[in-house]
Amino acid sequence: MEQDDSKLQFDENGNLRHLLSLKGIDAALLMDLLDDAEGHLTAPGELPSRSQSLAGRTIANLFFEPSTRTRASFDLAGRRLGADVLNLDVNTSSRKKGESILDTIYTLEAMQVDVMVVRDASDGVPAYIARHVKDHVCVLNAGESDISHPTQGLLDLLTIRQHNADFGKLIVAIVGDIQHSRVAMSTSQALRTMGVGELRLISPPALAPDPNKFPDARIVDNIADGLEDADVVMALRIQRERIGNLDGVPGIDEYFANFGLSHESMKFAKPDAIVMHPGPMNRGIEIEGTLADSSQSVISRQVTNGVAVRMAVLDRISKIMGSR
Ligand code: CP
Repeated sequence: MEQDDSKLQFDENGNLRHLLSLKGIDAALLMDLLDDAEGHLTAPGELPSRSQSLAGRTIANLFFEPSTRTRASFDLAGRRLGADVLNLDVNTSSRKKGESILDTIYTLEAMQVDVMVVRDASDGVPAYIARHVKDHVCVLNAGESDISHPTQGLLDLLTIRQHNADFGKLIVAIVGDIQHSRVAMSTSQALRTMGVGELRLISPPALAPDPNKFPDARIVDNIADGLEDADVVMALRIQRERIGNLDGVPGIDEYFANFGLSHESMKFAKPDAIVMHPGPMNRGIEIEGTLADSSQSVISRQVTNGVAVRMAVLDRISKIMGSR
């Protein structure tokens, strides 16, 4: 399903219409989106960036899986661009009564919703919706199974670029449950497009990824080897909701001892390496709490960048809407 999405997300003039995957988004567009996002960042204590680029438009947040960061940041991003934002309560939506996803979408289209922001546990749902919406409606993937989380990939790329924009010289290490992580997929796609120096994926063998999904990455099962001289280190949580059988997955203490990101394990990385985590974070399991709060950590910056990146994406598709 994913290989078709990269074409589906552009209109007949090559403009971004839906954001379904970072696959097929070239380096120039990635950098344009990051530059636009930078333009939405303001200093701490200043008022957040605002515009009216989406005034009169309506965004529906359809999160069929839990979320704090992505949902709240799409909500804030939409409001700060002047849109009406509808946060559908999926627990009380008619999907619980057996309504199909398409009937939910057609119902929202009939209420003149222009942008559908979709998170779903199943593969292919954002692309499926994109294939069925009317020409003026845009679909943004807010997290799809273990496949794709494109705005997370963009905000991670922006956070890394703020540390060091010379991607070709960077060693990036991602440690945790790579096999079930849509964040690892999207962030590594963006990094590969930018020509990252080296990407290392560190996990216990039971959580190691299919190497075909991560071309050019080095798959490692030892944190000391994986973190050696790394410039950027990202921890991921164990995605228990996607793991049917926990056989072979280390228990909490064993996991933290061997794969937890800590002040001790960070000694293998470069002294100025940054520590990232997409959240939600499980302190004491995949990351030591005091490391997450330390000066090396850019976890809060990732969250701030998340609003700016979503504003940039919404701004970009608003230009298409205006031209229809
Ligand atoms: N990183 C991320 O997608 O977080 P949420 O699940 O809170 O949206």
